[in-house]
Amino acid sequence: MLKQKGKGKFLVIDGIDGSGKSLQVKILQERLITQYGIASLATREPGGSPLAEKIRALLLQRTEYSMDAVTEALLFNAARRNHLLSVITPALEKGLWVLCDRFSLSGLAYQSAGGACTETLEILHSIAVSNTKDLYNNESQHPCIPDLGLLLDLPYEQALQRISINKQGIVKSTDAFECRDSNFFARVRANFLEHARSKQFLWSIIDARKSVGQVAEIIEKKVVRHFLLNPLTARHYDKNQSTTISGN
Ligand code: TMP
Repeated sequence: MLKQKGKGKFLVIDGIDGSGKSLQVKILQERLITQYGIASLATREPGGSPLAEKIRALLLQRTEYSMDAVTEALLFNAARRNHLLSVITPALEKGLWVLCDRFSLSGLAYQSAGGACTETLEILHSIAVSNTKDLYNNESQHPCIPDLGLLLDLPYEQALQRISINKQGIVKSTDAFECRDSNFFARVRANFLEHARSKQFLWSIIDARKSVGQVAEIIEKKVVRHFLLNPLTARHYDKNQSTTISGN
């Protein structure tokens, strides 16, 4: 059952491929526990639960068949709902913070770039994050949505360079999304910015052209300000309280 969010906080770091989200999730998790004594679960979309990881593999490693953007959106949202029910909501109820590498903003950015209309994507997303009671009894309850979203914004030309060439200058193999053309990525970036700007109460936009350390500092400041966090003083912390879902 997807219940109301518990005591934990739900944070999402999203952005175009190559924007550095996954690394920033790890850095934030480390800073939360060491500086503020906050235990968190680091997870990702698509994926984060056994079933959602299988859907991820299907979406990213497909070679023999093509999919239209609405089929993609249905699969991403099926993975999202399973991830919410089996991993995110139970963690929030235990009081853990959840740091999620991508969430629904990616759906709006990528599947819109693939041709699906925003209204269709919003409907599918609202079903995926609905409280179970909403879906079965038509009762109104709060959906499970993030408390804070951080969009790492990067010009698509730089994103393409980062995803195709690794630090040693070697061209990397790419998945079904990463190998799309530059027009697709230009639309993805524009969609990210448009949707994040339209939900300014939730999303902060961060310039991901800055160094990893600078981006991490900005993220930490935003999180501290948003949740009014106080640094640990002499309290001890237990690093083992934080968990990372495998695959990240
Ligand atoms: P990742 O490489 O950051 O783990 O993401 C996998 C790909 O999935 C990435 O290219 C973006 C894409 N994606 C969507 O198209 N729609 C979605 O809803 C999500 C969560 C990801």
